[in-house]
Amino acid sequence: MLIKKNKYSELPENQVTDESLYLNRRQFINKSAMIAAVTALPKLAFANNPIPEPDYKELSQSPFSTDEELTPFDDITSYNNFYEFGTDKSDPAKYATNFPDKSESWPIIIDGECDKPGEYTYDDLIKPFTLEERIYRLRCVEGWSMVIPWVGFSLADLLKQAQPSSKAKFVEFTTLYNPQQMPGQQRQVLQWPYVEGLRIDEAMNPLSLLAVGLYGKELLGQNGAPIRLVTPWKYGFKSIKSIVQIRFVEKMPVSSWMRAGPSEYGFYSNVNPNVSHPRWSQTRERRIGDLLKRETHMFNGYQEQVAHLYTGMDLKRNF
Ligand code: MTE
Repeated sequence: MLIKKNKYSELPENQVTDESLYLNRRQFINKSAMIAAVTALPKLAFANNPIPEPDYKELSQSPFSTDEELTPFDDITSYNNFYEFGTDKSDPAKYATNFPDKSESWPIIIDGECDKPGEYTYDDLIKPFTLEERIYRLRCVEGWSMVIPWVGFSLADLLKQAQPSSKAKFVEFTTLYNPQQMPGQQRQVLQWPYVEGLRIDEAMNPLSLLAVGLYGKELLGQNGAPIRLVTPWKYGFKSIKSIVQIRFVEKMPVSSWMRAGPSEYGFYSNVNPNVSHPRWSQTRERRIGDLLKRETHMFNGYQEQVAHLYTGMDLKRNF
């Protein structure tokens, strides 16, 4: 994203294959034979080594799930963007091993323009909801993508519980601010805490997911434990991690990325192959593990579920 501007000045960012990706690909090629051997197992017995023991059992499968080949667990948990732990793809896995601190409960505030605000512990917050598995594509604005089997529940179900008022036009999400636990916050890479936002109808769309796990396991720190947003039709940076506050607001929130680069990162940030990032094209993407790039689809292939949200909007201006 913004940060890489100087590092690879000669090449457009999406032409650069970074070293960890290259090494992962070699491992991936070695694993292919093993993957073929386990495809007969049920979906939650994963095509990876070691096969993780599921924390969540008997998850229902969402009708929104894709049947595309899953990105291996190792790649999803080792190739990350979580700048609170550093800007290299390998930093989050390295520095988030003890995050979040399991000896402390994780508080989440829901407030703003709603009739039933509240402060919850993570355990209390998720208790009323039935968790399901949803296999979504994730497309990063940098030009790579994955297919991730999330575990979670519909964001709308949580938001409705808080009874938003008629003034609630947007929803603002905030990540934990704790520079001791999140060493990347000791540097002003972005304005901390990380903030993101959705329009209320986007937040209420059935695709919007609050994820608490992946591959049947509880989320690891690097993927945004204990709870993160997933909006698969938007670039990955909208999927804010390690959320501590959800606030209903009247005015459009200013996200951390809008603040850092307003001409590069818009509020909507819908996946759109017709709107280039100012520094690279968005027409194609590299699925992690693949050698060749593939076409990027409008709304990351989720047109049927979300195109109606943007009827009449100029998506080139409202990027
Ligand atoms: N959330 C926070 N708090 N901090 C971040 O740096 N990075 C975003 C998003 N959520 C980020 C974040 C970006 S750029 C992407 S692509 C996705 O998380 C990556 O999610 P993943 O590492 O689980 O694949």
